[in-house]
Amino acid sequence: MTAFVRTPLVAGNWKMNTDRASALELAQGVAHGASEIRDVDLAVCPPFPYLESVGALLREMSSRVALGAQDVYHEPDGAFTGEVSTSMLRDLGVRYVLTGHSERRHVIGEDDALVARKTWAVTEAGLECILCVGETIDQRQAGETDEVNRRQVSAALDGLNAEQIARVTIAYEPVWAIGTGLSATPDDAQDAHAKIRALVDDLAGAEAAAAMRILYGGSVKPANATELLAQPDIDGGLIGGASLKSGDFLAIAGAALAQRA
Ligand code: PGA
Repeated sequence: MTAFVRTPLVAGNWKMNTDRASALELAQGVAHGASEIRDVDLAVCPPFPYLESVGALLREMSSRVALGAQDVYHEPDGAFTGEVSTSMLRDLGVRYVLTGHSERRHVIGEDDALVARKTWAVTEAGLECILCVGETIDQRQAGETDEVNRRQVSAALDGLNAEQIARVTIAYEPVWAIGTGLSATPDDAQDAHAKIRALVDDLAGAEAAAAMRILYGGSVKPANATELLAQPDIDGGLIGGASLKSGDFLAIAGAALAQRA
């Protein structure tokens, strides 16, 4: 594959954590430290109720930390009780939107077809999509890791045009590594990332594959970030637990920056 310089992205997925005060405190801590971390794109994904106030704070601080949302609904408007549209997120200054997070697939029950519709809507709206894929422990033990990644990536990219694909970042997050303290080994993660990149090449061409950021997620912490981020096909991280402490999140972002040096 041709060498291509991809700017790493380190995004914090706060999940259903924080309250209003602690969300603002966390965002402030991240924004303070972020000014030191040039050349790495940074984002935080607070719960929906705090998007507006966290976004306002980041703007006030002229921060380079972008705002991300943890989910979205694909319809533009209408009778969809409890759901949130892409235009609502744009109103709030959101730049990144997660689709297909494993908790939405496996706890809430989203299937590939719904994740595909959401991915289409996000990228059609001009927002950047972080498409999450990855195998469960049973699928891994059955040797199905590559097949699951292939199915999930193919379903979500199907029908997207080149501009939409350019707005997608893939996050490979083995489900068994999320929130468990068990991370994939750097070699296993690199192997999965390289295969996903080869698949993007098949689906969308060499240029799209070379430009595609593929993040690793699943128990990334300061102690394992350097080794993971040193892998050639790992272009940053989607961070859950460790993103709830600004110091840990910034240490991981710093590890991404060190790879650039
Ligand atoms: P974790 O979560 O870092 O707590 O494992 C990652 C994620 O779910 O995105």
